[in-house]
Amino acid sequence: MKFKAIYSFLEQDLNIVERELEKSVWSNDPLLSDAGLHLLQAGGKRIRPVFVLLSAMFGQYDIDKIKKVAVALELIHMASLVHDDVIDDAELRRGKATIKSKWDNQIAMYTGDYLFARSLQIITEIEKPLAHQILAKTIVEVVLGEIEQIKDKYNYEQNFRTYLRRIKRKTALLIATSCQIGAVAADVQEEWHKRLFWFGYYVGVSYQIIDDILDFTSTEEELGKPVGSDLLQGNITLPVLIAMRDPSLKEQIMKVNEQTTPTEIKPIIEAVKSSGAIKESIALSDRYLQKSLEVIAPLPKSKMKTTLIQIAKYIGKRKF
Ligand code: IPE
Ligand code: IPE
Ligand code: MG
Ligand code: MG
Repeated sequence: MKFKAIYSFLEQDLNIVERELEKSVWSNDPLLSDAGLHLLQAGGKRIRPVFVLLSAMFGQYDIDKIKKVAVALELIHMASLVHDDVIDDAELRRGKATIKSKWDNQIAMYTGDYLFARSLQIITEIEKPLAHQILAKTIVEVVLGEIEQIKDKYNYEQNFRTYLRRIKRKTALLIATSCQIGAVAADVQEEWHKRLFWFGYYVGVSYQIIDDILDFTSTEEELGKPVGSDLLQGNITLPVLIAMRDPSLKEQIMKVNEQTTPTEIKPIIEAVKSSGAIKESIALSDRYLQKSLEVIAPLPKSKMKTTLIQIAKYIGKRKF
């Protein structure tokens, strides 16, 4: 089954969210509008809005209201991507030129800031202080996660613990929050929105682990950016940490630095791929997915619950 087919019943509502996103990136300034629309129209999976809508379905679902939450969450995601591409000096995102390469770093900085700010503006239309608190806290943590990533570039003395802490901050929390705020905005009872938070959190850890694996195993066409970008940019991810347990591989990997070229990195990528590190990384992702399924098990049997479970299972096998 294709990913989108799992939640095809959301299509109409996701189209509404899409129109709202287009409106939300619009500004009086044509440059900001262009940059925001450029990223929006480059595509993306819109997985965070999907989680918002599905979680809201456990309560009083009203698309006119919940679309605001979905937009706010996707905007934060987009803002963090724009900034991430500045940090990583990335040329391609979603198969298109990054904002920093099509325009420049300064434009990217302010486009990111604009998207963050718009997100906050839009969430205040939901009159729920808890939703505002959760969102603000999430932004703080995402930024901390990204800062950690900058500080740890080309640092080969990291361990699993620091890796997990970083991905929990930079990725898992936003997905957790997508589930929780979706539910909070729809007046879902506390026990359930907390469970949805943890569901999203575990799914989010797995999502980032798979993203880090795909950076090795996928193709440029599917990734929308060159294979092996993470290591080349100095982002030490789980497959690399596992591969470095082998002393000779560690020696090879530790030679990667700012000067390493895409040609030089190729054999190292191949070595990591054939080391068993990918298989072990998938196993860790699976453990988190298992936890996500356990935590939502007590929620009432429903179409949205079945869909969340299907999405979680799909994430473990995703190829894009
Ligand atoms: C990319 O997120 C960065 C991560 C947090 C893994 P997505 O894979 O959700 O990116 P888009 O929105 O689909 O492009
Ligand atoms: C996700 O991490 C970035 C943020 C959460 C801001 P990655 O660095 O893995 O994202 P990609 O791979 O560039 O999409
Ligand atoms: Mg990146
Ligand atoms: Mg990545």
